[in-house]
Amino acid sequence: MTVQPLPLIAGNWKMNGLVADGLALASALGDRMRAASPAPCTMVLCPPATLLGAVAGVLEGSGVLLGGQDCHSEEAGAYTGSVSTGMLADVGCKFVIVGHSERRRDFDETDEMVAAKAAAALSRGLTPIICVGETLDQREAGQAIAVVEQQVKQSVPAGGSGVVVAYEPVWAIGTGRTASTDDVAEIHGAIRGVLGEAAIPILYGGSANPGNAAELLATPEVGGLLVGGASLDAESFWQVATAG
Ligand code: PGA
Repeated sequence: MTVQPLPLIAGNWKMNGLVADGLALASALGDRMRAASPAPCTMVLCPPATLLGAVAGVLEGSGVLLGGQDCHSEEAGAYTGSVSTGMLADVGCKFVIVGHSERRRDFDETDEMVAAKAAAALSRGLTPIICVGETLDQREAGQAIAVVEQQVKQSVPAGGSGVVVAYEPVWAIGTGRTASTDDVAEIHGAIRGVLGEAAIPILYGGSANPGNAAELLATPEVGGLLVGGASLDAESFWQVATAG
């Protein structure tokens, strides 16, 4: 019998959270994970950079892992406002999200830049969560699979081992509109075809919530969820975390 790995449930807080509410959220989740036996999932919290150090403190010993939301591909230097993978590792991160569609859209990040960030993460022992996904126009033009396959080919560093890929259709992010499980299965199958490697988890993201998490997690090739809005509330995120 093959043992299925636990689902990977990552919370992307985006630009939300001051110290008090961020710590309260992290400690509520840390407490639930400490009390859970066995752990329902591998849980990763990705707070804004300002909270990473403090959140690392409250998560200590809980088994909940910490991730950054972005990184620079260079290790240090004159890059005002940026955070390097070494800095993330230094405060206790094990993961970093790279190539989120909000960064591709708002900061003109290309697949090449995303691949360089992912490679920088790997070189520091961090697991990059590499995001891909088509826009609504691309889906309506029948290009979803081709766009996503191309992003995976160009954003995942050669060989791909040690990475996580997240399929996040842009039109499903923050909209309350989730991709159908048929669409998710189809795109995840295409991503698996490109990756070829069974060990790379493929997450789904885009309006994942307590109401749809179980169905999404039961979809072929879905190894976990990348959760935005529903990760900002301990009860909702816990329901997602325990849905697998
Ligand atoms: P959402 O965000 O769950 O709020 O749609 C997901 C994401 O952007 O990672």
